Amino acid sequence: MIDRASWQIHDEATLGELVELMHLSPVETALMGALHADATLIAPAMTQAFYARLFAHAQTAEYLQGVSMDRLHSMVAEWFTQLFCGTYDAEYARRRMTIGQIHVRIGLPVRYPLAMLDIVMPYGEQLAAKSSDPTAAVGAFRKVLALDVAIFNQAYEDNQLRHLAELVGGERLARRLLTGMG
Ligand code: HEM
Repeated sequence: MIDRASWQIHDEATLGELVELMHLSPVETALMGALHADATLIAPAMTQAFYARLFAHAQTAEYLQGVSMDRLHSMVAEWFTQLFCGTYDAEYARRRMTIGQIHVRIGLPVRYPLAMLDIVMPYGEQLAAKSSDPTAAVGAFRKVLALDVAIFNQAYEDNQLRHLAELVGGERLARRLLTGMG
């Protein structure tokens, strides 16, 4: 099997690579940053809808039993607000990767966080539509959210790869096994 250049990119370096892949421009990051203050205002409504959805479904509500909901509301509000921070650097990537890892550690199937984009997306788009350049801002928001989803997902893949690599004695063999080509 051919070695791929992408296999050499790990941890927070994945964000830099994705920013490049998606052509996230300085104009777009500035448009996002300009919405930061307004993001803090709508974040509580977003988190209300977010947890209403999770509590209404038995399999997701189970994860929230015994967890401080005040803390989670403020953490998810902060997560939403930070999408509009305007600086998407290695430190940002590290923070977002850690959030993904926390969900790996609680044994949460990745389909649930991914499905929650249905709640996050319209709130972000409504906010972006209030920008001085709505079309560009909505596009920028979609890119930043896609980056976040990619990083969140990468935390899951890294975890699986790391454990499999430990088991079989190397990342290359682990990657080969995951292709199904054994
Ligand atoms: C878009 C999807 C999601 C985002 C952005 C998100 C965001 C967060 C954030 C920022 C934290 C705090 C992390 C920290 O302590 O630094 C957190 C913790 C947590 N999340 Fe999520 N979350 C998502 C989906 C879910 C789903 C679907 C569930 C469960 C059904 C869930 C359950 C939890 C739990 C139980 C914790 C607390 C973990 C602990 O402290 O032990 N999350 N989440």
